[in-house]
Amino acid sequence: MKKIIIVVLCVLFLIPALGIFAAGENVISMRLAYDQPVTTPKAKGFNFFADRIKELTNGQIIITNYPNAVLGHPKENAEQVQAGALEMFTISCADLAMFVPIMDVFSIPYLFRDKEHYWKVLDGEVGREIAEYTEEAGMKLLFWVDAGARSFYNNVRPIYTPDDLKGLKVRVMSSDVMIKTMEAFGASPTTVAFSEVYSALQTGVIDGAENNPPSVDNMKHNEVAEYYSLDEHMMIPDSLIISLDVWNKLTKEQQDIFIKVSKETQEVVKKEWAKQEVEGLKRISVTTKINLIPDKSAFIEAVKPLQESLSPKFEGYIEKIQAVK
Ligand code: GCU
Repeated sequence: MKKIIIVVLCVLFLIPALGIFAAGENVISMRLAYDQPVTTPKAKGFNFFADRIKELTNGQIIITNYPNAVLGHPKENAEQVQAGALEMFTISCADLAMFVPIMDVFSIPYLFRDKEHYWKVLDGEVGREIAEYTEEAGMKLLFWVDAGARSFYNNVRPIYTPDDLKGLKVRVMSSDVMIKTMEAFGASPTTVAFSEVYSALQTGVIDGAENNPPSVDNMKHNEVAEYYSLDEHMMIPDSLIISLDVWNKLTKEQQDIFIKVSKETQEVVKKEWAKQEVEGLKRISVTTKINLIPDKSAFIEAVKPLQESLSPKFEGYIEKIQAVK
């Protein structure tokens, strides 16, 4: 009996105490929240990120990932970071615009010419300048996360021209530009959290939504969507954010490690993205009719006036982005 009591006491007190001792007093723990399943390109990137930070800091910084919105939606995560209750999270620039309005510039339809232009902007001077705006909201943007091009999927009809969108109830993120874009196309925008899109489609609360192939595939939205029409109207990057307070408490050496690992992770996500874009479309095509839209000029024309009217709001950034060659 005595022996059993000793063993139980050891398990309850001594072993955890040793654990803390072994971990050392200076170990920094961080939580990283995101709202997607562990199979997505960015989830794979964040696993790499956590492993690599642990490796390069010799176990001094431990990052634990929390997928599937278990710590809340990105908007809630942003509020948690601002309140000092969370260290890191990922958010689409369209949602980030609730806290950092300039980020909505990336929701401007047909802003980027192609993927090459997108990365030139994001990784160049303009991308760096825009990223710095997050500091005014108590956040630091560590890196831009690939989020491909967004296209419409719905349960009413295939979309070939903007006219086909007339009257459709389409889900959008919490972005003023996304809302205005849907209105310019004649659709009726409804804000729904990403993790609730599946049931909103299934129950008919919305007729459709719009997203990139890896997200549609990983969230299985194709199971509840009849048509997927590849008009590629927006390329809105995601971002990985760390609390500015947490960042400022890191040593210069630790910050350098974060910067190095951020660059590496960006590449890991990009590679996985390219792979999942192809594989995702294949899987989507099993349940859903996919149509290409090789000539997008009618879509581009439909949103031109909107782009012009929004230009002053973004302090010249629409033009700066377009000027990047
Ligand atoms: C994309 C993006 C997510 C975003 C989602 C959405 O999948 O990568 O960050 O949350 O779109 O439409 O809400």
